[in-house]
Amino acid sequence: MSSILTELEQRRESARAGGGARRVEAQHGRGKLTARERIELLVDDGSFEEFDMFVSHRCTDFDMSANQISGDGVVTGWGTINGRQVYVFSQDFTVFGGSLSETHAAKICKIMDMAMRNGAPLIGLNDSGGARIQEGVASLAGYAEVFQRNILASGVIPQISVIMGPCAGGAVYSPAMTDFIFMVRDTSYMFVTGPDVVKTVTNEIISAEELGGSTTHTTRSSVADGAFDNDVEALIEIRRFFDFLPLNNHQKPPTLPIFDDPDRLEMSLDSLVPDNPNVPYDMKELIYKIADEGSVFELQEAFARNIITGFIRLEGTTIGVVANQPMVLAGCLDIDSSRKAARFVRFCDAFEIPILTLVDVPGFLPGTSQEYGGIIVHGAKLLFAYGEATVPKVTVITRKAYGGAYDVMSSKHLRGDINYAWPSAQIAVMGAKGAVEILYRSELDDADYVAARTQEYEARFANPFVAAEKGFIDDVIMPHSTRKRVCRAFASLKGKSLSNPPKKHDNIPL
Ligand code: HXC
Repeated sequence: MSSILTELEQRRESARAGGGARRVEAQHGRGKLTARERIELLVDDGSFEEFDMFVSHRCTDFDMSANQISGDGVVTGWGTINGRQVYVFSQDFTVFGGSLSETHAAKICKIMDMAMRNGAPLIGLNDSGGARIQEGVASLAGYAEVFQRNILASGVIPQISVIMGPCAGGAVYSPAMTDFIFMVRDTSYMFVTGPDVVKTVTNEIISAEELGGSTTHTTRSSVADGAFDNDVEALIEIRRFFDFLPLNNHQKPPTLPIFDDPDRLEMSLDSLVPDNPNVPYDMKELIYKIADEGSVFELQEAFARNIITGFIRLEGTTIGVVANQPMVLAGCLDIDSSRKAARFVRFCDAFEIPILTLVDVPGFLPGTSQEYGGIIVHGAKLLFAYGEATVPKVTVITRKAYGGAYDVMSSKHLRGDINYAWPSAQIAVMGAKGAVEILYRSELDDADYVAARTQEYEARFANPFVAAEKGFIDDVIMPHSTRKRVCRAFASLKGKSLSNPPKKHDNIPL
């Protein structure tokens, strides 16, 4: 018996050693942790149960049968994050460059199936040279098996990808089909074809970092939802992020103990909106003052900054926030901001996370680049996402709500449950200047006449009361009471039950 126990321990030791001390040292030398070190930081101490530690590949080509490393380049299993279950895979770059073989894929598929059956989220720590070159199509088949599971799990359990090294070729499509992608600055990159292929095909000379590093994907492509300075920061932040999410689509998000009074008044909000409607202010100030203290997690912070998306907690419970940001492009809706917010709204709706919408929007961004780029179809995404969402929806209009953008931003007409406006709200088809220029086109040379008409229009429409008289706004609230009113609004919607007509699936304008 004792020799079997010794053998077990030896086998475990060998699996834990991964690709060996030299390769572990190289991994550390690049500023990266190993697959197992990452899991240790991600999950609660002592909570990780590893599966398939002794699995090895079945490839015989290229002398591979002589080159077997237990675990085959990926560590899989489950653990807990702050006590809640999560399935995790962590690719081991020290073993065949973390490349994906048939058995490596099967290990990932096994925990994906378990995550689905048991209703717990999946976190993938990606660090891989892509398809195991020696295995050819068997590896490609393995990827497709993972892809298929990503698709089936979408909307059932939250799926989070953390890119902590290379992620290239078709391998990028598994993270792309998960709900969130986070990257590590300087040590991770994602692209469909690398710099060499790019040079051959398009003659462009570009580095891996420029082509697919975290800056590219958080500021330009919007592929990534956020980036962190190093592995440690990334894993600590993923733990914080995880706490906002429900375990699956049948469960509510967790409610954490609260230390912040839901009735807290913020007198400074009464002067947040400047007197001059053309002067911007920072919408983030409002978000931070509404949220439970220390509970803001912003997503896609560096992309389409004219709209803010992220999670906060109110009375300890997760709320998704979408807010126009007057500091950037006056908070208008354009292609990028519409896409960004639409995807976020759909995630919240899929996982029963209530949505708070803060509105200060002068309309859609005009111009040929927007029209040629398809703002019609991209703007429709956000409209569609809000309109189909059945989760509790609370809206606060702080200033402008003009034109079609008024309708889009979780208006009453898109089944907004509770729609508030601040006294500074202006709800109209357009601003006074634009309206007068159209209505009195032939009189524009007469400055006094134009001034009088502008004043008349402002008096009629530059307020929330016309909309409130029609019941489109449920109440005009004092800015300082916003946290209290919004907390009460969501509390009143806890029992909300609403469903859409039965259908196979909708046809959102993709
Ligand atoms: C097998 C691989 C591998 C791969 C790396 N290795 N990639 N083994 N299949 N795809 C091995 C190397 O042989 C080496 O083994 C170890 O991993 C580390 O690799 P290095 O090249 O020494 O490391 P580094 O210099 O950091 O470069 C990392 C790298 C490079 C940029 C990822 O290895 C690379 O370009 N690999 C190939 C990437 C690629 O083209 N993959 C296929 C993409 S297409 P030793 O024994 O020396 O430690 C794809 C299709 C997916 O993935 C399709 C899905 C539908």
